Amino acid sequence: MTPSSFNLAGYENYDAYLEARQIRDNGDQKTVPSTNYFLVDENDRVLAMVDIRHNLMDYLFNVGGHIGYSVRPAERRKGHATRILAEALRKCDELGIQRVLVTCNDDNIGSAKTIIKNGGVEDKSFKEEDGTVVRRFWVER
Ligand SMILES: CC(C)(COP(=O)(O)OP(=O)(O)OC[C@H]1O[C@@H](n2cnc3c(N)ncnc32)[C@H](O)[C@@H]1OP(=O)(O)O)[C@@H](O)C(=O)NCCC(=O)NCCS
Repeated sequence: MTPSSFNLAGYENYDAYLEARQIRDNGDQKTVPSTNYFLVDENDRVLAMVDIRHNLMDYLFNVGGHIGYSVRPAERRKGHATRILAEALRKCDELGIQRVLVTCNDDNIGSAKTIIKNGGVEDKSFKEEDGTVVRRFWVER
C-alpha cells in the first residue's frame, strides 16, 4: 500500500482506521503531523490517494519527502497523479510549506515525470542501506 499511511491492515474496521488517522493527523511519537486525501470520481470511487507530511524528520528528508501518492492500478496513465500532486501542493501552500520535497525511487519513471511536471527541481539522490537510490526533488512555492 502506497503511501503506507493508507494501509488498513491491523485495523478492525474503517472507523478504527479513521480514529488512528486522527491521532496521526496531529503527529504522534513516531510520525510527524500528516493529512491524507482521496481523489474520487463522480461515483465516489477512489482513483488516487495522497499523504501530506507537514514537516520533515531525517527519514522524510532523505527518503519519504513531504508528499506520497499512488493511483489505482486500473486508472494509471490518465493524469491522476499529476492532478493529485498539484492539489497536494496547494494544500502545502495552506500549511505554509514553501519548499516541498517530493521523492521517488530511481526506477520509478512515472513518478519522476509526475514530479517534474509539477515543477520539481532535482537535488542530490540518497542511497538507502539496501542500495535503493531515492531521487529527491524540491518544488518552490
Ligand atoms: C507513479 C504513479 C503515481 C503514476 O501515476 P499516473 O496517474 O499513472 O501518472 P500520470 O498519468 O499523471 O503520468 C505522469 C507522467 O508520467 C508518465 N508515466 C506514468 N506512468 C509511467 C510509466 N510506468 N512509465 C513511463 N512513464 C509513465 C505519463 O505518461 C506522464 O507523462 P507525460 O505527461 O509525458 O505523458 C503510479 O504509477 C502509481 O501509483 N505507482 C505505484 C505507487 C507509486 O509508485 N507512488 C509514487 C511513490 S514516489
